[in-house]
Amino acid sequence: MLDHGDAPSATEPPARRATGAAALMRRKPVETLVAEGGQGEGGSLRRSLSMWQLTMISIGATLGTGIFVVLGEAVPKAGPAVTVSFVIAGLTALFSALSYAELAGSIPVAGSSYSYAYATMGELIAWVCGWCLVLEYGVSVAAVAVGWGEYLNELLDGTIGVTIPDALSAPPGDGGYFNLPALIVVILAMVFLLGGARESARANTVMVIVKIASLLLFCTVGFIGFKSGNYADFMPLGTAGVSGAAATLFFSYIGFDAASTAGEEAKNPQRDLPRAIMLSLVIVTVLYVLVAAVAVGARPWRQFTDTEASLAAIMKDVTGQSFWGTLLAACAVIAIASVVLTVLYGQTRVLFAMSRDGLVPKVFSKVHPRTGTPRVNTVIVSLFCGVLAAAIPLGQLADATSIGTLFAFALVNVAVVVLRYKRPDMPRTFKVAFGPVLPVIGFLFCGYMMFSLEAVTWIVFGIWLAVGLVIYFGYSRTRSKLHA
Ligand code: ALA
Repeated sequence: MLDHGDAPSATEPPARRATGAAALMRRKPVETLVAEGGQGEGGSLRRSLSMWQLTMISIGATLGTGIFVVLGEAVPKAGPAVTVSFVIAGLTALFSALSYAELAGSIPVAGSSYSYAYATMGELIAWVCGWCLVLEYGVSVAAVAVGWGEYLNELLDGTIGVTIPDALSAPPGDGGYFNLPALIVVILAMVFLLGGARESARANTVMVIVKIASLLLFCTVGFIGFKSGNYADFMPLGTAGVSGAAATLFFSYIGFDAASTAGEEAKNPQRDLPRAIMLSLVIVTVLYVLVAAVAVGARPWRQFTDTEASLAAIMKDVTGQSFWGTLLAACAVIAIASVVLTVLYGQTRVLFAMSRDGLVPKVFSKVHPRTGTPRVNTVIVSLFCGVLAAAIPLGQLADATSIGTLFAFALVNVAVVVLRYKRPDMPRTFKVAFGPVLPVIGFLFCGYMMFSLEAVTWIVFGIWLAVGLVIYFGYSRTRSKLHA
């Protein structure tokens, strides 16, 4: 079996052709992954992102629909203990974030967990991981774009008293023909991304500041309506309800790893990526717990329903003035747009890395010489996500996105332990404390969360993996650069 993950140096001879099961386990040396960093077809990505911008990319990708929309779906499951659900989901993210920080600091490449898996567990697992990242990034962009459309309608209603009719704001199967707003937000994000990573990061920073400010505003105003009596029945549906809500809310933490897809565009990735990942997670967790605590304090948990429990609706109720609800809806429109922008960015970079390895077509790693961005990749991914968002009912997709992400996170925890064992001397700018203990806990948390999701989500995930394996065996395996 070829054992490239064990490569002691960048001077290792090129991979020999492996066959059969060995081909599925072929690994890409860490040194090769790092040495290839930035290189695409016909050009290189540009290193322009600072630690601040990387942190904003991770917050931008994380803070969005989960808190503005999904919170309303989780409260009926857990009651006021939804605050505990946020902490449990946050802990799951935390242990995995530590593992991400260690790997992103030592293997700072665009492929994120896909590349970490390639270096440690072999090509087949790496492919499965990359395919799960398509759920985490590509499919979640579509789900998030749908949430954006809902807030846009709330904003239009509050300002000019009109809403986009169902026919144009819902896909077939959900009472409409086409979700135009969802398509529009994806196209807008595409336009920014085509302009360059630095320009997109600047726009994202402004949007992130707006969304943090709006959540703090919600906490301040919502606190006026806070009634401690709303906490009297703290855990009405027991621990099972709290776990179920935590699994649903895990969606709100998806994206903290987005900075790790910017490894080839960061100015000082080894130093800045671990910091950006950890800092963004801490900021986001504190905000989530605060917002959830205020929301269930301001409105009795039984009054939360999917449609009427958005933060904007709560704000309107508390103040009795539609102005505040409209203001929050405006902020949500900006906030969720930044998720679309950064998550779309992440998807293009993961495909960039997979294309460089030969597992997806070359066109995904073509770099535009002037902007230093993978332009064709960006257009293809945006059109795919835009049409998906516009034409497919995505109601149940948030959970499917979560299960794929949890699977990828579980693999990242395994990758840390494998690399510790195989490459103990590899330079690490950030090292998770207590040896393999925390990554193992991270792995167990991911498993626990996955098993808290509903059976239907597992079925969707199983189908997703089966499609991925068909593509791998039908296309990628023989086109892999390690196959040559
Ligand atoms: N975490 C992202 C959101 O909540 C996907 O919108």
